[in-house]
Amino acid sequence: TTKIILDTDPGIDDAMAILFAEAHPAIELVGITTVFGNATIADGTRNALWLKETFAMQADVAKGAAAPLVRPPVGPTTVVHGAHGFGDVEAGEPSLSADPRPAWQYIVEQLKAAPGEITLVTIGPLTNLALALEKAPEIVSLVKQVVVMGGAFGVNGHRGNVTPYAEANIHDDPEAADRVFTADWPLVIIGLDVTQQSMFSGAYLDALRDEAGVPGRFIWDVSRFYLRFYSDRIGMDGCHVHDPSAIAYVINPALFTLRRGPVRVITSGPAIGHTLQKFDERRHPHDDWARFRAQDVGVAVDANALLALYRRTLIDW
Ligand code: BDR
Ligand code: CA
Repeated sequence: TTKIILDTDPGIDDAMAILFAEAHPAIELVGITTVFGNATIADGTRNALWLKETFAMQADVAKGAAAPLVRPPVGPTTVVHGAHGFGDVEAGEPSLSADPRPAWQYIVEQLKAAPGEITLVTIGPLTNLALALEKAPEIVSLVKQVVVMGGAFGVNGHRGNVTPYAEANIHDDPEAADRVFTADWPLVIIGLDVTQQSMFSGAYLDALRDEAGVPGRFIWDVSRFYLRFYSDRIGMDGCHVHDPSAIAYVINPALFTLRRGPVRVITSGPAIGHTLQKFDERRHPHDDWARFRAQDVGVAVDANALLALYRRTLIDW
């Protein structure tokens, strides 16, 4: 099994990803670290603790950053995820409390306690990871792998969702993302290029509700608000499979085709939050990209296999 710490801004598709990770036998969900993003840090952390309680999860929950490193906060994405992150579902006040440590410290201490064993999976803004790197740079050699849901590289015309040129997680904290992407650790980025190739249709979610017990029912309930957003704004009957795709990568990397090269993030101006990868061999006269480690970016996915994997995992849980 792969031990993971899941860094998240819960979030409707975050909830779908958390349950996927908890349900799959190949993953041991050691910890959940929260970050601002879809909701405030208070709401997101409450949502995470409520999931832990409701689904009797063993994972620690540690509360993370409330705001980005440098840029002014963008604010919660209430039009997509509702007033408190879970759409029409209001998570009650959980009786559990969070780990006393801030997320960055929790991450650093877990990596030091189990060198080479833990995969960090991020499905929110990258602030906690950037802080962990700043406080303890040696973690680059302690992590097994970093898997990031974020960014959009224009592979199939997908360049952004919150702006024409930026994906939400990266747009929320571009400096943090640039630090995480240029750090000397093994990293895989699952961006809109692949997550927008898979869709949970209305019918798919109805079937999950009918076949996957209590978690299936919850996923259906929490996705109602999300599906209204998709149908009102994009005219789609269903939603893209963003955050669960990062978990699918951990379970079965063979579902994805990757492209290798250094990755940078635009940190200001009209394309703030845009992600770029240099993947050609050409040597440009003023090129300094070779200073940075080549990372893997997802460019294609077997969407049918991914949808089947998610469904099977929730039904068999
Ligand atoms: C990402 O942004 C958030 O709205 C989702 O939870 C996902 O992590 C998609 O751009
Ligand atoms: Ca998310």
